[in-house]
Amino acid sequence: MSKPMLHFEVVNSETQSLKLHIVLENSTESQLHDFVLCFDMPRFLDKSKVVNGVVKSQVGSHIELAPLEGMSVAAGESWTVTIESNTSGLFNLSERPNGPYLKVGKEFIEVAVGSHSMPQPEPLELNAQPMPAPKAGVIPQPNQVVAKQGVFIWQNSVSINVANEVSHNAIAWLTQQFSDTQFEQTDTNPIVSFIEVQQLEEEAYQLTISEETVKIEASSASGFLYGAVTLAQLLVTARNVVDCVVITDAPQYSYRGQFLDCARSFHNIDTVKSVIDQMVWLKLNTFHWHLTDDEAWRMEIDAYPALTEIGAWRGEGEIQPPQFGSGSNRYGGFFTKAQIAEVVAYAKAREITVIPEVDIPGHARALIMALPHLLIEKEDTSDYVSIQQYQDNVLNPGLPATYEVLETILDEVCEMFPSEVIHLGGDEVPAHVWEKSPACIQKAKELEFEDVRQLEGHLISHLERYLADKGRRIAVWEEASHGNKITNNATVCAWSNSAEGQKAAKAGYPVIMCPAQATYLDMAWNKDINETGVLWAGTIDLKTAYQFEPSNIESSQQVIGTQALVWTEFVKDKQTLEFLLYPRLFAVAEVAWTSTQNKDWPHFLPRVSAQLSYLESKGINYRRG
Ligand code: ACM
Repeated sequence: MSKPMLHFEVVNSETQSLKLHIVLENSTESQLHDFVLCFDMPRFLDKSKVVNGVVKSQVGSHIELAPLEGMSVAAGESWTVTIESNTSGLFNLSERPNGPYLKVGKEFIEVAVGSHSMPQPEPLELNAQPMPAPKAGVIPQPNQVVAKQGVFIWQNSVSINVANEVSHNAIAWLTQQFSDTQFEQTDTNPIVSFIEVQQLEEEAYQLTISEETVKIEASSASGFLYGAVTLAQLLVTARNVVDCVVITDAPQYSYRGQFLDCARSFHNIDTVKSVIDQMVWLKLNTFHWHLTDDEAWRMEIDAYPALTEIGAWRGEGEIQPPQFGSGSNRYGGFFTKAQIAEVVAYAKAREITVIPEVDIPGHARALIMALPHLLIEKEDTSDYVSIQQYQDNVLNPGLPATYEVLETILDEVCEMFPSEVIHLGGDEVPAHVWEKSPACIQKAKELEFEDVRQLEGHLISHLERYLADKGRRIAVWEEASHGNKITNNATVCAWSNSAEGQKAAKAGYPVIMCPAQATYLDMAWNKDINETGVLWAGTIDLKTAYQFEPSNIESSQQVIGTQALVWTEFVKDKQTLEFLLYPRLFAVAEVAWTSTQNKDWPHFLPRVSAQLSYLESKGINYRRG
């Protein structure tokens, strides 16, 4: 039997408004009646503007539409309902109405994703640029390269010095990377030698490639690893015949990150390990792991099994509804403590620190829904809508249980994650939260706050002190630094624009400059409606990513680095994740490592071309063109 089909047509897409016809085609042989059409679309619908239907509910991106009373759809006929949103009108296929199904009583009927009609924006600037011929080289560009006479040829069999504690990770990595090469470990005239030189700074290295030998000097395990990575990149891009050279190198920024959202869509441990593998290749040293959000809680916590039993899943019959096209079936997953330990160890062996993020007090719906008896104040009638269309996703800082639950969770987070820094989120707490919460009003009064809103900083600052007692520091998104409640030991991730980062730097915070306009790689490359990626912060092509400068003269002391981010509302699989990362991650890595005066766009492109066949050899997807 044919399935019903969901088509859509964009009627009007302007800066601040979006109007769509949603068309349900009854391609079955029977009449459809008494049904509700469910699908996901990340826009807040204006219920008063729906034509020929009714919005029954909207939770996040999950929308339920019903036909008008008594209406049915005969076999072969269609039902068209018109919906409008006055939030952003920027739209492309990544945000299409998705995951459709019908609810008829207790039954679910599958609905196929049908056709669409969307205007291409005019004029369409596709930024298409033919890539130049490949040229052997390194990404990120090393800071000093002195060419020498002659070539070094990598043979099938290579001797390497015996590893010690400092060189162990580098040698292990290099030998894994060249699994077709026979390695012999010997301290008698090895071809490749790792030599400790105390004067070199943490992360710095010197790589000397002569005709007969390769020497990597460093004072730290990370320096040795980065020397090995530079050698590996030269060998791969020059096909094992490398010009002799002396490279003296150290990073511009100490924080060079990759952020991955594993909450919105679940990306499993294999994908996470693959991301970590790719980070080493680009000398990125911090994995910012977004493990909790409105749509899911993905980390096992012994004290509260409900967090993963309930909070890690969504679908019909689950506490959390479907989101982002996940459909009526149960969808989700989480990381066990053993898996988290595996990721942390895997990263450590690659000189990468894992910073977990527990996003509070907003973006906390999964946490709240898993522990409603502890975290919901029934008398709180505050009326708010979050930017992602939730009306019940903010923790209540007036309830003692909120503090107890978070402290208990953080106890376990600290056991799992040895990183000095724990990220507490703090972004996008909507206007009007807590205003009608008796507990918050009382708490604000006790603390002599003028406004319940100050409880946001109070909660984060309480947890900052709690973690400080355990020897940890916090990182937060920029909003959590507003109101001056947290100390200057907290690192601020500036995401909404660079000016926010400049402001935080001026206020004395260490800043990770990661503005959405340059580092959110879930943004589309261009405005083509078929391009993968979202548009709310604009478009990011390779050059936009490359030209970003994290700091300026005023902020250079405070900006500790930058990172590439991928939020995963529409990023369901590894293929799509990689498509968004590559080749733009090459640009972010060079921005993070290479000093500004050594960055050079025309010099960068042939090195990118040379990396593409490496990506292919590793089975890594990337955007072509
Ligand atoms: C963010 O993008 N809300 C940090």
